[in-house]
Amino acid sequence: MLLNRLVCNTEFPPVTEAASWVKDRAFPADLPLIDVSQAVPGYPTSGPILTHMTEVLQQAPTSKYGHVLGLPELRETYAQHLNAHYTESNSASISADNVAITAGCNQAFYVAVAALCAPGDQVILPTPWYFNHKMSLDMQGIETIALPCDAEQQMIPDAEIANSLITAKTRAIVLVSPNNPTGQIYPPETINAFYALAKKTGIALIIDETYADFRQQPQQAPHRVFTDADWADHAIHLYSFSKAYALAGYRVGALVGSRQLHHEVTKVLDCVSICAPQISQHAALYGLQHEAAWKEQKRTLMYARAAAFREAIEHCSKNYQITAMGAYFAYLQHPFENSDSTTIARSLADTANILTLPGQMFGENQQRYLRIAFANVDQNLMPEIAARLGRHTPA
Ligand SMILES: Cc1ncc(COP(=O)(O)O)c(C=O)c1O
Repeated sequence: MLLNRLVCNTEFPPVTEAASWVKDRAFPADLPLIDVSQAVPGYPTSGPILTHMTEVLQQAPTSKYGHVLGLPELRETYAQHLNAHYTESNSASISADNVAITAGCNQAFYVAVAALCAPGDQVILPTPWYFNHKMSLDMQGIETIALPCDAEQQMIPDAEIANSLITAKTRAIVLVSPNNPTGQIYPPETINAFYALAKKTGIALIIDETYADFRQQPQQAPHRVFTDADWADHAIHLYSFSKAYALAGYRVGALVGSRQLHHEVTKVLDCVSICAPQISQHAALYGLQHEAAWKEQKRTLMYARAAAFREAIEHCSKNYQITAMGAYFAYLQHPFENSDSTTIARSLADTANILTLPGQMFGENQQRYLRIAFANVDQNLMPEIAARLGRHTPA
């Protein structure tokens, strides 16, 4: 049988690809594998969330289909959460009708794009990009237009350059902040400028805020988009409960936009999942309602890891440079000018037993970078990571 050329031509999932480099290998006790490849919390979800889930499991509706756009109470609670954290006066600019619950943020992106774009349309992605965004666009026949980010600007994209890339086919610009892969937390002014551009040009601004809870200053609003009365006509916010509440395997995320968008999103979601898993929606709801303090503890833990990583890299005997760093990730420039990042990442996996992702998995011109998901490992391992990087020279 013939397979869909759009899917065939899309890159293979990078995390799966990197995992295959170390699959079936045994690691010696004095050089165990350090896996900083995938962004997944290294700790379990909170005890109270787990207890709540076991209770919900016993209830009959949990095994039934739910509303396509999600549990009404979760939609309402997430809307209130956004109003409280993104609008200065806690003004109710976001309502439950604006919130759709999805089986994870990757699904939220996929369905948002399906609702916005037809094959042949264009979407602007800053590079380095989040590979699942690029893959989702490829598979749907949507052209990716790369917006290169500058290392000198710590990989923060420029709205003026984006403006010059907009054509009659452009449907959306995507921002990821805090960013994957760079960890960079975009200043509110940057996001506001992209929003103004989207509004002026009539395209959508999609903001993936999967790591919003891990910002350095969580009390500050990440941007002012939701304070504009017309925000829903121009912006789409995406969120994941995977990282903040350590629920990655339960698959629950959110897509926030206009009622008109959700009318179309309902059609797509009804075909791809009917509803997000009920148990997961209850876990997310419980998390939002009761686990702010737990979440804050984990955020603090992440910054202790970040500080330890930065200090360790400063003492590394080879010249690795932190190009950008923030929530969850560091984007490291490696010192080997004549080697590409895939070669370096492979040889680090093969001989130093450190699993990283090469910058080349995140788009064009990323040969000099490695993504380190430092959030995955304990802070006392950071000197060991730097020591192994220091000892390692690719063949
Ligand atoms: C930017 C970004 N968006 C979405 C996701 C996926 O989130 P979810 O597990 O909710 O599908 C990730 C996971 O790594 C991510 O980094």
